[in-house]
Amino acid sequence: MGKLFFHHVTPAVQDAIFGLTVVFDADQRPDKINLGVGQYRNDELMTPVLESVKLAETFLLREEESKEYLPIAGDPVFLNRVGALVFGEFFWAAEGKRVSGVQGLGGTGALRIGGDFLKAEVGERIAISDPTWPNHRGVFASCGMKVETYPYYDIRTNTQTFDRMFQYLKNLTPGSIVVLHACCHNPTGVDLSLDQWKQLLKLFKENGLLPFFDFAYQGFGSSIEEDAKIVRLFAADGMEMLVACSQSKNFGLYSERVGALYVVTESEKTAQAVLSKLKTIVRTNYSNPPRHGAAIVAHILSTPVLKKMWEQEVNIMNARIEKLRHDFVEALVSRSRKRNYMFLSDRVGMFCFTGLNPEEVERLREEFAIYMPLDGRINIAGLSNENLSTVVGAMIEVTL
Ligand SMILES: Cc1ncc(COP(=O)(O)O)c(C=O)c1O
Repeated sequence: MGKLFFHHVTPAVQDAIFGLTVVFDADQRPDKINLGVGQYRNDELMTPVLESVKLAETFLLREEESKEYLPIAGDPVFLNRVGALVFGEFFWAAEGKRVSGVQGLGGTGALRIGGDFLKAEVGERIAISDPTWPNHRGVFASCGMKVETYPYYDIRTNTQTFDRMFQYLKNLTPGSIVVLHACCHNPTGVDLSLDQWKQLLKLFKENGLLPFFDFAYQGFGSSIEEDAKIVRLFAADGMEMLVACSQSKNFGLYSERVGALYVVTESEKTAQAVLSKLKTIVRTNYSNPPRHGAAIVAHILSTPVLKKMWEQEVNIMNARIEKLRHDFVEALVSRSRKRNYMFLSDRVGMFCFTGLNPEEVERLREEFAIYMPLDGRINIAGLSNENLSTVVGAMIEVTL
């Protein structure tokens, strides 16, 4: 053999969530429970294809005449309809021209395009919440950015730490970029109040900070419209900002990789220039985005009966999570003598921190075949009427 080129390569650290699924799949115990997954599950613990999506796919199969390339920025109808969904029809009609938008490979791809753009054109200091969705650090570090964290949550008291967050952001140098979860903070399940958001808006304006909203869960908090209110609040105030949105969860299109990045600028001229740069990033990475998932979303959002149907399906997913959360907290509170789990009752979205420590999480895995990441975050949708009592019993057992 000649020169060895790859001999020095050492294994990378496995992704915590996907790694957990690998271990879970290999577990032979028949009654194992996975609360670590990042996807919605129904009562049968399946991640179903939505009916509205099936109908849109039937339509596409019948009507689609070509698989030609999409434009570099993506499907224009998709970008237009998702823009209206995120920013609201009114803002979109009046101000949409000063927003540049490109399709992303899911929300992750949208974050990555945003990071690459910011690093090249704006600055490299970016602050993410502590804790946050673990991939935030990976994505922005891969863009060559300097990633720092602002305090968001105190695991000892199970509370959000707004004052410390505010103080930290106040001390950032002007021009810094701050990643914010638009709703359903992952992993804690704790969102800020409207009043706190208004304080942040004022601070961002006064101190010249650039918000980068990660909007992966529209419809999984209060409702599709209500969950967009913070993004819309900032936009209505004339803020420049970025929004990375994902249609993985709310359309159940996980594997189709559908998402979008929007950059709100001060003028149409700037938006055009920004768009040209975003397109260069796309072109040099994967040339142009996939069509199928975006075409599904575009068709649903521009067909009133399908849109209505989709909204109802989102509401059903949301209601299931809410009901499970309620039952889970009720069972924990009535059965646990050692810990007070009332704090879980006002969490929003699929995820929340349980307050379990790594040793307790490990015991759950080893003794009860119940899986979650070591930080104790669970996906409420991984619970079911059938397994809820088992999970509660096991949690009580490991915290005695
Ligand atoms: C906070 C947050 N942002 C972004 C994403 C990425 O979503 P996607 O699967 O669309 O890339 C996720 C997915 O779990 C997430 O939780």
